[in-house]
Amino acid sequence: MERNIPELVKQLTLEEKAGLCSGADFWHTKAVERLGIPAMMVSDGPHGLRTQDMTQENHDASIKAVCFPTGCATAASFDPALLRREGAAIGREARAVGVGVVLGPAVNIKRSPLCGRNFEYFSEDPYLAGELAAAFIDGVQSQGVGTSIKHFAANNQEYRRMSASSDMTEQTLREIYLPAFETAVKKSRPWTVMCSYNRINGVYASENQKLLTEILRDEWGFDGFVMSDWGAVADRVKGVAAGLELEMPGSGGVNDAKIVAAVEDGTLPEETLDKAVTRILNIVFRAADTAAAPRPELDLAGDHKIAAGLARECAVLLQNKGALPLRRGSRVVYIGGFAEHPRYQGGGSSHINVVAADSALDAARRHGRHVSYVEGFPADRDQRDEQAFLAAVEAAAAADTAVIFAGLPESFESEGCDRSHMRLPESQNNLIARVAAVQKNTVVVLHTGSPVECPWADDVASVLCMYLSGEGVGEAADALLWGDANPCGRLPETWPLRLEDTPCYLDFPGDGRTALYREGIFVGYRWYDARKMPVRWPFGHGLSYTGFVYREPELSAPEFSGDGSVKVRVSVRNVGTMAGREVVQLYVANCTGTAGRPPKELRRFVKISLEPGEEKQVEFTLTARDLSYYNEALGDWYAAPGLYKILLGHSSRDIHATLELTYRTDRLLPLTVDENTTVGELLADPRTAPVIRSIVDQYGTALNGGNAGGDGVLSAEGALQMMEGMPLRGLVNFGGPAAAGMLPGLLDALKKAAEQ
Ligand code: BGC
Repeated sequence: MERNIPELVKQLTLEEKAGLCSGADFWHTKAVERLGIPAMMVSDGPHGLRTQDMTQENHDASIKAVCFPTGCATAASFDPALLRREGAAIGREARAVGVGVVLGPAVNIKRSPLCGRNFEYFSEDPYLAGELAAAFIDGVQSQGVGTSIKHFAANNQEYRRMSASSDMTEQTLREIYLPAFETAVKKSRPWTVMCSYNRINGVYASENQKLLTEILRDEWGFDGFVMSDWGAVADRVKGVAAGLELEMPGSGGVNDAKIVAAVEDGTLPEETLDKAVTRILNIVFRAADTAAAPRPELDLAGDHKIAAGLARECAVLLQNKGALPLRRGSRVVYIGGFAEHPRYQGGGSSHINVVAADSALDAARRHGRHVSYVEGFPADRDQRDEQAFLAAVEAAAAADTAVIFAGLPESFESEGCDRSHMRLPESQNNLIARVAAVQKNTVVVLHTGSPVECPWADDVASVLCMYLSGEGVGEAADALLWGDANPCGRLPETWPLRLEDTPCYLDFPGDGRTALYREGIFVGYRWYDARKMPVRWPFGHGLSYTGFVYREPELSAPEFSGDGSVKVRVSVRNVGTMAGREVVQLYVANCTGTAGRPPKELRRFVKISLEPGEEKQVEFTLTARDLSYYNEALGDWYAAPGLYKILLGHSSRDIHATLELTYRTDRLLPLTVDENTTVGELLADPRTAPVIRSIVDQYGTALNGGNAGGDGVLSAEGALQMMEGMPLRGLVNFGGPAAAGMLPGLLDALKKAAEQ
């Protein structure tokens, strides 16, 4: 419905306008009845609805809803179409119960496997996280329901999340911690963004002008409104000025009064407040339009089936020495409490009140599988009981295959606290090792929201990671274990061998006031690859019951320039006997000589379905941005001219083909000219080369200590290197009396040349 929102804003009193900038309660914006402004309900998110049950006083009591696969699991699908499906299902449920905005997706980067909330987040890789977030937003918003992409930004730990400052370089922020938001905002236009609790380089996200206005709105074109994470506001007036429109859940009027006072005393221009109110009302009325249309029925049974279907596509087959799929008719024993009580979601604000979750044991019985069960260890705590262990080991020895359902108990992994180690409960590690010692066909099924150390990995046959895949986990695990479905997930994060190998091991979680991101852009596989470290399972890894072969790829041209683009094509064939899905991954390696680049970065991926014997060609288009890094001197993304390698493969460490691509550009980086700029830098830059060349020709011999190169103390190469590394002030020192007075003039001439 058409409404004149600027006109409405004019009719609001100052108090009403300030009031609209905070919640009426935990889950609603305020209404202004005299002007027909309705309230809007919001709900967590991100993998299902935690909508307040209005019949209960407790604002934490939520209605029954479906728990879909969580972020860690959906990320492992490497499949934007799956995220769109999940988003659409959640959007439909939201519409059915009158929710205007779903609080998700959660896209913070997995800086350390210890972050307690990693299960809600997607990946260690910003490109993957951004593509998946955009698809999820498209799905939810296709139903006329909004999203709130969160937590903006650099909220990568739970320890002191409300106050710690995530301190990092601009390049790190731009390349690692912002792109998931950037992609989602540009591609899918989320209705709202949720700012995080933490500070970034000392400034609270909730009052961060650079983040909320300069980057989010001015650079990326965000046109919705920003809401605070619950209780994230520090200085409300600064927040409004910086671009934080809605405070949630509200401060009982205290902060609204501060906004009124600031407008009255002129500290906050009224136009700024008007803009904030306008942005909020644009969305509130969008939600009202949806609410005015007929509501769909809440179909929990139907959505449960969808959740189980999605979960099948999220599981990752990490290792398989032939024990999977299980053979019908063989003697199989299930061991471990997770077979009966799987863990499928994490604790905290995303916790869903489900009707029922499937267990693998229930599913096996339903499908008439011949499976016996011995608990061995419980799912909810670290408990070692020798009798139970002996029973499990005995049953394993007598069976053809032992399947151990292991994982992290809920208390190990939740919003609000980080893990202190990366291990499974000791009781589980112990029993897995003992079972593996008597049964070569030992399969481990993992239920965790984050990587765990797997000291027994070499001793067991197969490992299937279910992550936390929602209430359909049991049905999905059953189908995958017995070969009714073919595993097709890929790891959205590296599984390191041990915690001590992780990039921010020495800095995580910091001293409580500051979290120093010293590893910079070397997060996840960027770190392990740069350091050539062995890992348990690499980023992008995941096996299948079938096999895929890559043909030689091709480039549409060996080079491109400026704003142009290039196409990369490769064909992949299913060479096995079962239908399967392959994720073709494309990484770019910068070989131009730019300092400090990771060996490779994911720039494209696509998931394809292939029948046995079928072959398909995939095509990717790359532009300069895909070759770029964030250059701080330029304050922009920059693709250096020169050679790039395009790596295509099955995972970050299973590359099947490499192509060489040259990029050409006239764009030059800013050059700082001062007394310490080197002769080499000046010679390499076309703007300053002519000026410095004449000086080098004149003073070259003097510059390298009178040695022209070749047969003196320095080799010709050494002399050249020494010359190139010489700062301008060396001219004075080595150039003798003739050069002594020329530095100021030379600096002037070079600065002028560099500014051209
Ligand atoms: C969480 C958010 C959540 C909000 C509302 C906060 O504590 O960080 O992710 O959306 O609560 O429940």
